[in-house]
Amino acid sequence: MSRNESRRDFLKQGAGLVLAGATVPLWNLLSGCQGGQDSRNASPASGPVMVPLALVPEGRRTVVDVHGKPVELLRQDGGVTARSLRCTHQGCKVAWREADQEYVCPCHDGRFDHEGQPVYGMPRRALPLLHAVVRDDVIEVSA
Ligand code: FES
Repeated sequence: MSRNESRRDFLKQGAGLVLAGATVPLWNLLSGCQGGQDSRNASPASGPVMVPLALVPEGRRTVVDVHGKPVELLRQDGGVTARSLRCTHQGCKVAWREADQEYVCPCHDGRFDHEGQPVYGMPRRALPLLHAVVRDDVIEVSA
């Protein structure tokens, strides 16, 4: 896959980034689209989402939108981990708290350790991992 094909595939998938607390479809950022009903810009409901590796710096947690769901990408030790940020209790979006090395749910104060395992509160199941593969400087995330 060439670099241009990777970029094109990425754009087609409609991956998004979370910027300033709001999830923004990346296609909208790149095309300048502010939303609307243009079906050409609609994200496919399924299939892998392509994220340029350059948008996920080594050792940093980056949140992307995968088909309307927040997913954290963590790149470290040559690999990428993709983890759902939907709380397994009732589906609120959890956030990583660096100081405590845990994910915290704002709805009922559920907490998960650094591996996404529940450690406090109502959640009983771990934050699910998604399949992530790096090919040609692109992360392919499958829901
Ligand atoms: Fe997360 Fe209830 S929804 S603890």
